[in-house]
Amino acid sequence: MQRTLALVAMGLISFPALADRMPIPADAPPAFKAECGSCHLAFPPALLSADDWRRVMGGLDKHYGDNATLDEKTRRPIEDFLIRNAGSGRRTMGAGVPPRLTFTDWFRHKHDEVPAAVWKDKQVGSAANCAACHPRAEAGSFSEREIRMPGGYRHEHD
Ligand code: HEC
Ligand code: HEC
Repeated sequence: MQRTLALVAMGLISFPALADRMPIPADAPPAFKAECGSCHLAFPPALLSADDWRRVMGGLDKHYGDNATLDEKTRRPIEDFLIRNAGSGRRTMGAGVPPRLTFTDWFRHKHDEVPAAVWKDKQVGSAANCAACHPRAEAGSFSEREIRMPGGYRHEHD
């Protein structure tokens, strides 16, 4: 057991539970869910790097074709929160510019079994629409057992 814990601590073993639970960290400013969860899911901060969150929060006036501008006293605590809880390493690599957590190697790997037709289903619309397939995304739960794909596609557990 002690050896297992040591390996977990070193990041050499990861339990599925660590990947499928991503609740919003408790130190979120109240404005985070209200302002960043109104057009889409308030994304888990660990899915982008600190540099990429800086990019996102530095360009809210041109936000993926939308205007998500905030006044500075609301914007600043959200940026600080995202940077404090940002991810690193493989989970955030490949996000591109502008940064998309749905472009990372990690995201693609986690979703490599999703059929192309499902991504194109109009109930999905975009990979960023997490809740289309993860009904409890809002609660931070992405467990494979809960996945419901539109169009009647089945996800086979492996
Ligand atoms: C006015 C609506 C709106 C608000 C408010 C908003 N966004 Fe977005 N956001 C969008 C749209 C539209 C997209 C593009 C979604 C897509 O391509 O499916 C997007 C995409 C994103 C993406 C990239 C998702 C991907 O494709 O991987 C991130 C990260 C993001 N938003 C973060 C935030 C944060 C942080 C806030 C709060 C400061 C915020 N958004 C507020 C509309 C909004
Ligand atoms: C079109 C449906 C769909 C959308 C949209 C989607 N997912 Fe998934 N997701 C799945 C499926 C199916 C799996 C399991 C895939 C597999 O086993 O290859 C999965 C797996 C995952 C896992 C791994 C769970 C585990 O137990 O390891 C996480 C985390 C995850 N998704 C997060 C997200 C996030 C965050 C978003 C939005 C930014 C998102 N997903 C959008 C269908 C989707």
